[in-house]
Amino acid sequence: MIKINRQNILKAKIGPKNGMEPAVLRELCMAKQPLVAAVLRSAGKEGYGFLKLPDNAKLLKQIQTFAAAQKKYKWENILVLGIGGSALGVTAIKEALLGCFHDVFRKPRLLVLDNVDPVFITDAAERLDMKKTLFVVISKSGTTVEPMALFALAKEKMMKTAGKNWKKHFVFITDPRVGLLREIAGNEGIAAFEVPPNVGGRYSVLSSVGLLPAALAGLDAAGLLKGAKKMRGLIAKAKGEENPALLLAALQHYFDKEKKKPMTVVMPYCNELWRVADWYRQLLAESIGKNGHSGPTPLSALGATDQHSQVQLWNEGPDNKFFIFLRVISQAADLKIGKILPKPMDFLNGKTLGRILDASYKGTSESLAKNGRPNVTLEIPKTDAETVGALFMLFEFQVALLGLMYGVNAFNQPGVEHGKQITKKILSGR
Ligand code: PA5
Repeated sequence: MIKINRQNILKAKIGPKNGMEPAVLRELCMAKQPLVAAVLRSAGKEGYGFLKLPDNAKLLKQIQTFAAAQKKYKWENILVLGIGGSALGVTAIKEALLGCFHDVFRKPRLLVLDNVDPVFITDAAERLDMKKTLFVVISKSGTTVEPMALFALAKEKMMKTAGKNWKKHFVFITDPRVGLLREIAGNEGIAAFEVPPNVGGRYSVLSSVGLLPAALAGLDAAGLLKGAKKMRGLIAKAKGEENPALLLAALQHYFDKEKKKPMTVVMPYCNELWRVADWYRQLLAESIGKNGHSGPTPLSALGATDQHSQVQLWNEGPDNKFFIFLRVISQAADLKIGKILPKPMDFLNGKTLGRILDASYKGTSESLAKNGRPNVTLEIPKTDAETVGALFMLFEFQVALLGLMYGVNAFNQPGVEHGKQITKKILSGR
């Protein structure tokens, strides 16, 4: 299971300016403990539906059955059309479980088109064989401009390419009752899965939004739910600072409010988990960034890559950040360097890349600690479906806790809706 190393928030490690005494940390977490029960009690209520997603065995079965039935079409491309919460989770799953180069070598490819940049879309349309493409159109509201525009283009293209068979190239994921996408599904008889109304877009990765594309790409959808369920169980049981969601939320809130650190950096030392950090950026930003609150503003980074772009700022720039590192204990593959390099780099001979990456992580977390900058590390056993599911549940629960700590509704997004309305006005001239 995922563990949190919290040495680098303690006074003994990072000094008196930002460091905490162990007793202060203990008391802080115990004081916030009742919020865990409050979140659990709300399971299933508006927004809190994400807590129940791991229990939906019936949906999992339906998804697996649908994915198995699609095999006969030998799709080369599973093309997701969605944006925000209807895209970022799929991308996170895809990169975590398939790696970053799978699009080049593997079929079916799982691709996410989450923008209306005409060059990006033209490129995809020209390069991919549409006859061998299944479009998964995801929009909870069924009325978001970007995915609906892409759906319109895809429908037109497929009507030309596949004639009366165009419908078999589409599956929708949307609200069970409202929205244009649901209406089209009903009118045209297109297969459609549901985003439960009590689950917000950015909390929907463990619903059909994440599970269906995963299953269509041959990934372990059941494992995602299993990991999430285990994590939910752990969060429900563990007390005080042993509770990972509570610990993360309490620290983030404390460092923002008490130590003026309104920014949170999430930095996996693992390419496969980089998009989980992007997914988290939306989750935190849209859930807590409201009512004029100062933070936390999320930043995502990749280790070791961003050591060579951002760490200077983090170490010596404004002391306004709290850091969450993700460290994978057992990487799926490794490579050893032979006796190749001469002095002064001969110390690399015989080392594995895994060891070098880990040394880079230690170098960064320790240098931040020495500069008094608080950081914690999520120690992740390996990147499989269970751990990815567990990470989703951990962060969703943590953000729900933050909602209570900041006193904001963590499940609405009026700022996003405002922009959506203005976009529609501009385009419709009304
Ligand atoms: O979290 C949210 O609610 C938003 O970011 C949505 O996911 C995003 O705006 C896309 O909305 P929809 O799924 O309705 O197309």
